[in-house]
Amino acid sequence: MRIEDWQPDLTLHEGPKFRALANALRQAARSGELTPGTRLPPMRDLAWRLKVTTGTVARAYQLAATEGVIESHVGRGSFIAAPKPRRPLPEPLLYESLDRPVNADGPIDLRIPQLPDCDQARIIGQHLSDIGSELGADILDYTPLSRDLHCRESLLHWMSVRPLGDVTAQDLVLTHGGQNAIMLVMALCLADQPAKVMTEALTYPGITHAARLMRAETLSVAMDDQGMLPEDLDRVARESGARLVCLTPSAQNPTMAGMGPERRDELMRIARRHDLQVIEDECYATGPDPDAPPSLRALAPERVWYVTSLSKIIAAGLRFGILLCPPGMGQAGRIGAQHSHMGLSLPITGLVTRLIGSGDARRIAADVHKRVEERRHLALTHLQGLTAASRPGVPMIWLQLPAPWRSEDFVIRAAASGIIVRPVTDFLSEPETGQNAPQGVRIALNCRLELSKLSSAIETLAELARSGPTNGPD
Ligand SMILES: Cc1ncc(COP(=O)(O)O)c(C=O)c1O
Repeated sequence: MRIEDWQPDLTLHEGPKFRALANALRQAARSGELTPGTRLPPMRDLAWRLKVTTGTVARAYQLAATEGVIESHVGRGSFIAAPKPRRPLPEPLLYESLDRPVNADGPIDLRIPQLPDCDQARIIGQHLSDIGSELGADILDYTPLSRDLHCRESLLHWMSVRPLGDVTAQDLVLTHGGQNAIMLVMALCLADQPAKVMTEALTYPGITHAARLMRAETLSVAMDDQGMLPEDLDRVARESGARLVCLTPSAQNPTMAGMGPERRDELMRIARRHDLQVIEDECYATGPDPDAPPSLRALAPERVWYVTSLSKIIAAGLRFGILLCPPGMGQAGRIGAQHSHMGLSLPITGLVTRLIGSGDARRIAADVHKRVEERRHLALTHLQGLTAASRPGVPMIWLQLPAPWRSEDFVIRAAASGIIVRPVTDFLSEPETGQNAPQGVRIALNCRLELSKLSSAIETLAELARSGPTNGPD
């Protein structure tokens, strides 16, 4: 249609006239009624034609330009913009592969750590059936903020064996797993900060997914075998103005780095210097442990958001996470959670309260730990002589490949031998930094795979690593 013939009926759109005109422009551009490149009339002319003021047209053009519907060029006027290509849909998480039946002769998938079966399903089922018979009318309502207090108090008791700084039940927020807690902290902190998140150079991909959903950029910070390097955090914070950093002090995914007390102190010193907010991701820390080094939350309670969950020690399908906010921020955290998911369901908070109160949580966590340890020791025996990093109770190994292996070549050769592992490139916080990445692979110790199968898979991987890229089967 020629623009001279375009005569939108603004009465069809509700609200102020400038918005009605911006809506009409958007609809005409989307439907193809006005094609990309169409030059819009001068504001005065359109105002006269539509019987509105020039100010109304100016505001409509401004709004349409912000939305990308039109583009304005100084001296040339305004034009219908070409539609932006849709962003490709991100890949689903690897967990989707758990839905595919495993063929006995198919490849051995060591990409996702799976928890051992320690009778969790039966124990959880029993508690749920007890809860079912006791449900009252509360289940008919939304959950007010205070109704999960009992659950928070039990969690506080369960977690308090480890120094976490001054904590009260008021500082706790219950979430749908650790990932949800990470996302919530980003939402809370980035509201009044630059949209930038500093992360370990190799990081759990959930951090980058959450940052992307928050429209935030991830900035890679160099690391060593104790995790993030304080001097590089200092540099990146100074150069970028970023104010939020994610750290995984106890069991870094994927490198299995663990921070000693000095590294923790130094990082918190830098965090204070730049007034950073810190996400302390302890989802892979093995349950509450009195012998663990002091948490970052204990060292800098005023700025650390401690995140953990029951996924790695009891059952990931529970989708239960815990966020410990800096003192005084708990109410903000709970309101943020309420705005995002309206609170956890009563049966789940009831279940967790029972799991903890009955001692079942502690028993399951201890059993899980024991079985993971069996597999980890078995794997380390096969990997002797290679550089393999691991942590007690964590079902994964970071294997540094001897030169001249390249991580992706190793993954291809392993797949040809029927074993799937993850290359370093899956964990880059900034994909452009790939050239300098250490050549390693992450091996998940799938704890529900037959022990003999896991054992021979690790043996094959070890042989492949030792034999180098130019030898062995293709
Ligand atoms: C380091 C790390 N943090 C957080 C999570 C999130 O776990 P969840 O949401 O199941 O608690 C994961 C999951 O794999 C993880 O590896």
